[in-house]
Amino acid sequence: MVVDPKPRAHPAKYRPFDWPSGLKLQLEPRDQPLKLDLCALLEQRQTRRTFSNKLENVALGEFLWLACRNRSSRASPFGPNQESRVYPSAGAMHPIHVLLARRGSPWMRYDPIEHALVDLAGSMESAAASRDAAGSLIDLGQGTLIGLVAEFGKTAAKYENHETLVWRDAGVALGYMSIVAEALGLAFCPLGITGQPYLTDYLSDATRLQAAGLAALGPA
Ligand SMILES: Cc1cc2nc3c(=O)[nH]c(=O)nc-3n(C[C@H](O)[C@H](O)[C@H](O)COP(=O)(O)O)c2cc1C
Repeated sequence: MVVDPKPRAHPAKYRPFDWPSGLKLQLEPRDQPLKLDLCALLEQRQTRRTFSNKLENVALGEFLWLACRNRSSRASPFGPNQESRVYPSAGAMHPIHVLLARRGSPWMRYDPIEHALVDLAGSMESAAASRDAAGSLIDLGQGTLIGLVAEFGKTAAKYENHETLVWRDAGVALGYMSIVAEALGLAFCPLGITGQPYLTDYLSDATRLQAAGLAALGPA
């Protein structure tokens, strides 16, 4: 039976996962307004599964800026900073990390503060294996594979019975991505598999991380 989360009487101190550094690709922000009819957008949004074209860096940067970026951070008694990102998160703990795998490339981690992609060294085979797994569900073609990685300890530092909060946070991220993709004229398809084990199996000491979902993204 699912037990309701509850804030801890005393914060548990958590040391966040230290992601390896790597080659950085700085992305551009979306600095122009995006005028649209929200009612019409919600009416027309649908899962789009054609991924025949490559997503360029400019479009990828706009997507991540609008769907995932960090707006501000504040020190917390839990260890990691609490954050304000575009989408909400239980306790502002933001336990969901966003990774990307383009065809023929390793996993890259989206840094939501720097608005940059960081290569994850040694992840080439895992990225290819993830793309193969996604390819058993959809024709991924030139699509960019998105991987969600959950760091349960961040949310656990603030809440007892934290597990459902983290899974719901992953769903919130997917929901925002689906709306932003539609607004930018991109195809987006969430996938039912989690991405286990290939989202994290190339990292040392990744026991604190859990694959929490995959999705495909590309020009419509
Ligand atoms: C958590 C989740 C998992 C999904 N998994 C898949 C999947 O594995 N393959 C797929 O083609 N679509 C998948 N979808 C997309 C749904 O099939 C789609 O949202 C549903 O058919 C409703 O269609 P619509 O999004 O166009 O409204 C998934 C959606 C969600 C939210």
